[in-house]
Amino acid sequence: MPVIANQDELLQAAQRASTRAYAPFSKFFVGAAILTSDGKIYTGCNVENSSYGLTNCAERTAIFTAIADGAGQGKLDIQSVAVVNRDGVPCAPCGACRQVIYEFGPNAVIIYRGKTGKIEQTPIAALLPEGFRLGE
Ligand code: THU
Repeated sequence: MPVIANQDELLQAAQRASTRAYAPFSKFFVGAAILTSDGKIYTGCNVENSSYGLTNCAERTAIFTAIADGAGQGKLDIQSVAVVNRDGVPCAPCGACRQVIYEFGPNAVIIYRGKTGKIEQTPIAALLPEGFRLGE
């Protein structure tokens, strides 16, 4: 399994992003940081809404921010994603975010605090077996 050496830097970036989360409804403040294959880090936080279903998760905010920034000149390649809850409780990416991560990083390593409370590094393909790709 690929191991991400600079996991602390990515976790710290995610932790900083979590302080900017807009989560007045759940009070579950999440931050994410993605590392691209050209060495750039983009961050995001969750943004909730009074109409609950419109909520955007931290991971997708980070990825959409990277795309909007022109990361990878239209060929964004995500090497790893760190996701944290601001208050240090376990937080693995939701199913929707796993699919969005897979789109741009089928070999990405996900760094998160698992159910046991330990920081885990897990490839996206293990978190999302048979991720969907159009035309495959
Ligand atoms: N959330 C994320 O931002 N990322 C995750 O991986 C899990 C859930 C957010 C969505 C919502 O704002 C709050 O956490 C509670 O579900």
